[in-house]
Amino acid sequence: MERLDKILTNYAGLTRSSAKECLKKGRVCLNGETVKDGSIKVNETDTVTMDGKTVAQSRFRYFMLNKPGGYVSSTTDEPGDGAPNVISLFANEGVKGLFPVGRLDKDTTGLLVVTNDGALGHKLTAPSKHIDKVYLARVNKILGNADKEAFEKGFEFKDFVSATAGLEILETDTEKGESVARVTVHEGKFHQVKRMFLKTGCEVLELKRVSMGSLKLDENLPQGEYRELSEEEVKSLQN
Ligand code: URA
Repeated sequence: MERLDKILTNYAGLTRSSAKECLKKGRVCLNGETVKDGSIKVNETDTVTMDGKTVAQSRFRYFMLNKPGGYVSSTTDEPGDGAPNVISLFANEGVKGLFPVGRLDKDTTGLLVVTNDGALGHKLTAPSKHIDKVYLARVNKILGNADKEAFEKGFEFKDFVSATAGLEILETDTEKGESVARVTVHEGKFHQVKRMFLKTGCEVLELKRVSMGSLKLDENLPQGEYRELSEEEVKSLQN
């Protein structure tokens, strides 16, 4: 922890009196908010800007990736078929210690948070933390009310009983015998969505995660691309 005025003198090359003046004029922001008190303590997860330019960057980085199919949610490639890991997509960032928060299957696409903040990763994946996760699933069945009720009731698996889950039928294609549905789950068990659909007698043909808690997949982010999370988005995950 370091005082804000010290950061301004050490990293922005200001004298103590000009740092005070800049603070007074509201030119300095701490994590996006104007601060005028130079005695405030700043820690390594904070970002300080002056006139919109970064003076001290948090050492933690937070990204939203639109995961492409064919990549494993891990920091190493898959031993068997050598499928690439999602962290390899961040090679140009030069950030050490990045890891995916939670897991999506190799063929699942969509929202994946990638960070080097171990505490946040741990918090978001803790079994006690029931963060809603929303998926779009295309399945080889015409879904109906009985399926909705089954999802609401929960399913009994060998290793766990699933909590109530939401199933909203978005499209049905009677010719193909397929449906598209929005599924909301509160847990994050291995292959959970696919296993729930198997219980209703069908298979998932495509699966895409579109949100995690209040964090929504950016619709402008093509598959395989990522962007930094905004401060607001990071805060929403931390709370
Ligand atoms: N449920 C699944 O079955 N697969 C995923 O990748 C995520 C949730």
